Amino acid sequence: MDSISIRGGRPLSGTIPIGGAKNAALPLMAACLLTEDPLELSNVPDLVDIATMGKLLGELGAEIERPDAEGHDAGRGNAPVLRLQARQITATEAPYDLVRRMRASVVVMGPLLARAGRARVSLPGGCAIGTRPVDLHLKALEALGAEIELKEGYIEARAPNGLTGGHVLFPKVTVGGTENALMAAVLARGETVITNAAREPEITDLAQCLAAMGAKIDGLGTDTLKVSGVDQLSGCRHRVLPDRIETGTYAAAAAITGGDLTLTGARADLIESVIGLLQRAGVEVTEQGDGLKVSRANCDLRGVDSMTEPYPGFPTDMQAQIMALMTVAKGAAMITETIFENRFMHVPELCRMGADINVHGRSAIVRGVGKLSGAPVMATDLRASVSLVLAGLAAEGETRVNRVYHLDRGYERLEEKLAACGAQIARVAEA
Ligand code: UD1
Repeated sequence: MDSISIRGGRPLSGTIPIGGAKNAALPLMAACLLTEDPLELSNVPDLVDIATMGKLLGELGAEIERPDAEGHDAGRGNAPVLRLQARQITATEAPYDLVRRMRASVVVMGPLLARAGRARVSLPGGCAIGTRPVDLHLKALEALGAEIELKEGYIEARAPNGLTGGHVLFPKVTVGGTENALMAAVLARGETVITNAAREPEITDLAQCLAAMGAKIDGLGTDTLKVSGVDQLSGCRHRVLPDRIETGTYAAAAAITGGDLTLTGARADLIESVIGLLQRAGVEVTEQGDGLKVSRANCDLRGVDSMTEPYPGFPTDMQAQIMALMTVAKGAAMITETIFENRFMHVPELCRMGADINVHGRSAIVRGVGKLSGAPVMATDLRASVSLVLAGLAAEGETRVNRVYHLDRGYERLEEKLAACGAQIARVAEA
């Protein structure tokens, strides 16, 4: 299995292009199931998770084309296009093997029910960061008239006479649940109101694409989405919004190395909570042309507390990276995780690199140390893995990050982007 070798201690300097958001692209791809017309998405990142979703949609009957370099949106740099067309739904099952690899596969359930009246989707089960149930997805679909049974590890959902609009009230904010409810509601008969909907930018991106396909949705960007069902949707072209977590991760890379990075294509308005935190920690972040400039040239990092919350709060997907940053700050930082119950798996690995972190329930106290030291490390999920890369960039000596496949799920050309800014980083293929 490949690993990544990093020799830390060099300030990064240069430009990193920010790609399209993985977590927006995945539900947008699933939206192709809602129409027989082609859906053309641009700025789709080239990642393992995107390929997995492509494979699943292919099994359901969609044709997927990723035109080569000539198909790229040349005027906007690297903006790969994906064309998806589900003329017919030829199967309605999301099998265990794919859902196990990528939980986000469950977002095909809403569109399959809406278009084909049935869906059989493997129950995702637990994952490295917690139990992550899908009960709220199912309650939402039931509120739209779906009949749901759990059998042999699968969710069997049916709407033999089509879905009907209804009131979906989420007791807890769920991103995937809101996406499933929204994609089901756009083709349901009548009106649907989704209360306590997630407000993540990826939801708004999905809603904008659905609107361009002919859906009637009010309340974009708010926690109440009102949908008037339509009989059918058509195709459209849509550009995936920039990845706010990739942006935040490279901003943290500039900060932890005392460097200076320009992140092109990044949007500050998508990560205000992260920018605020970095600024309080002593990092300079300024909007510049088509992106952001992040630097910490001549000043110390300060410990700053943070607590994860649904958008627009501080994102759980940035928690591990900010923790890595706080390990080398002056003073202490308390980091509280409120979204997932088991998302401190990176703590023991950071401690192996010399970090001083104590976990008390949902909170971790990070006391800054002068220096980290390189070590062989590994992590069990995507953001935890990248937090170890960040720590490695600041550490003395060599850090080996194992289980690189987690990084390939969510960071496009990670080593290349960092190496171009002066990092000593390379992928090492294991025999
Ligand atoms: C999405 C993101 C993930 C991010 C998370 C929270 C994608 C592909 N993934 O995941 O990167 O970390 O949002 O911002 O977009 N919950 C239930 N029942 C449900 C659904 C969720 O109890 O039916 C709980 C979860 O266990 C978790 C919380 O709700 O504690 C939030 O989860 P949710 O927003 O649904 O996360 P995902 O959509 O899976």
